[in-house]
Amino acid sequence: MLAVGLSLLQGERKAPCDMYRKVGDEDYILFAQKGLPLSVDLCANLAEHAVKTLYIAPEESEDYYSYLRSFTEQVVKDPHIDSEHKAKAVYSSCREILHHVFDDPRASFINMAIDMIAPTMDLIVTDDLATRCLIKLTDYDQSTYTHSTNVGIFGIALARHYFGADAIKDLHSLGAGFFLHDLGKCRTPIEIITKPGPLTPEERTIINKHPEDGYNILLENGVMTEEFKYLTLQHHERDDGGGYPYGLKGKDIHPYARICRVVDIYEALTAERPYHRRISTFETLKLMKEKLVVDMEQGVFEHFVKLFLS
Ligand SMILES: [Fe+2]
Repeated sequence: MLAVGLSLLQGERKAPCDMYRKVGDEDYILFAQKGLPLSVDLCANLAEHAVKTLYIAPEESEDYYSYLRSFTEQVVKDPHIDSEHKAKAVYSSCREILHHVFDDPRASFINMAIDMIAPTMDLIVTDDLATRCLIKLTDYDQSTYTHSTNVGIFGIALARHYFGADAIKDLHSLGAGFFLHDLGKCRTPIEIITKPGPLTPEERTIINKHPEDGYNILLENGVMTEEFKYLTLQHHERDDGGGYPYGLKGKDIHPYARICRVVDIYEALTAERPYHRRISTFETLKLMKEKLVVDMEQGVFEHFVKLFLS
């Protein structure tokens, strides 16, 4: 069975396929039958038992995610739904599809994620209040897909602020690129990603392969774009040439990748990680300005700080 989140349980929706609850280690019971409403009572029942995951048959995953995609688009377009609820819906949908893509990065799922991210882009570009809600919503756990969702949200918001939405050539590809920048980490052993302590030189060599792994996954699946190329390959390059994989310097690093790096540093510092406690937004921005600004473009960082002041 395939684990899915609870994104569809926001409002009266119909189950897009049979959805199950796990009982014990191996057993599943039917929670909602395909076509029947996901009623308020059913949702309350999940909340009562602190259930955060449902299950579907793997062969129904395309139906499930295409329904989730149309649900997300409808919510974004619905003038009767307020910005806060729109923000909640797109955040949980993006996180859910990214979880799936990191578990199984095949072309159909990557394309579904790209598709799902498009309404989020449209929301951020058109709705300032929703953007502020999204920035507040960014949740923190140790998972790569939550980190990627957060970098995606901040990346789009910063790119819009830095370039202006009208100056961006392909907004949807850029947005999806921010969400998928760390896709290569699905090939990094989980013990290295979650290691509670400093990495050995050998482990560091392995994790430093993720920019090229991410690029190769997108290339192998036939979904490469110019935006994806720069964001996957260059998001760990540093202005002073001390980054990886190529040690590019200053203007040789694409502006999209420079934006991704600032957001990536912020997100890594504010997240709860095995090797450090979470620090506040103010402390993080102060630390970035005092200690890390040498390897970031100052102009990009200044625009980033303004995101929190608007
Ligand atoms: Fe990365």
